Amino acid sequence: MIIIKTKKEIEKMHKSGKLLASCHKEISKIIKPGITTWEIDQFVEKFLNENQAKAAQKGYNGYKYATCASVNDEICHGFPRKEPLKDGDIVTIDMVVNIDGWLADSAWSYGVGEISDEAKKLMEITKESLYRAIHKAVIGNRIGDISHEIQSFAESQGYSIVREFIGHGIGQNIHEDPQVLHFGPPGRGPRLKEGMVFTIEPMINTGSRRCFLEDNGWTARTFDGSLSAQYEHTIAITKDGPLILTEQ
Ligand code: MF3
Ligand code: CO
Repeated sequence: MIIIKTKKEIEKMHKSGKLLASCHKEISKIIKPGITTWEIDQFVEKFLNENQAKAAQKGYNGYKYATCASVNDEICHGFPRKEPLKDGDIVTIDMVVNIDGWLADSAWSYGVGEISDEAKKLMEITKESLYRAIHKAVIGNRIGDISHEIQSFAESQGYSIVREFIGHGIGQNIHEDPQVLHFGPPGRGPRLKEGMVFTIEPMINTGSRRCFLEDNGWTARTFDGSLSAQYEHTIAITKDGPLILTEQ
């Protein structure tokens, strides 16, 4: 069941989303060779708590950290760790912010120091696939139109799309209906209505789309060791078009 949000509820989620966006902006300033994803996680938790917000991922299904930090061939749900990031790494930081019970979810990929042209291109294509998909999030379209846009664009550029992890409705719970796949035919799935709020969060690889789950039970990695990037926004469907809640 898709829970439709009122304008007031969307405003509350927007408040969480704006704080999340400002947190990502701070991360972009501190991320450089030598910093650890552990330190970034500590920074995020402190930043959120100082702003009367909670890191909603912490404790969710037993997850222990404020952020997921996925480096290079890690696709998602990487654990923050005390190993310094190196020049040329790419790292996706994903987090969910809770203010007064209303949530917002956004992930961003960052380059550390000087990154390769291959990594730069992957990040550009992944980000563009997210924004192209957001443009399809208009009343009357279907969820499948969003899914299809990501797949047709990313694959036309020679990249592959991870299928095991998908976007989702969000509100007072991290995961609600609808499911938002990042692949599939257009014209399928629920029709978009005013007040729907969900994430779009493509994970895109330079190599094969195949992945495996690490022994920690959480972290997904590319099977062939190729690079993976991810960008995620929480968006609301409004009469005036898609409203990105996780931008400043
Ligand atoms: N941020 C994740 C997503 O984009 C949701 C939380 S996963 C967990 O779907 F690591 F916190 F459990
Ligand atoms: Co997320």
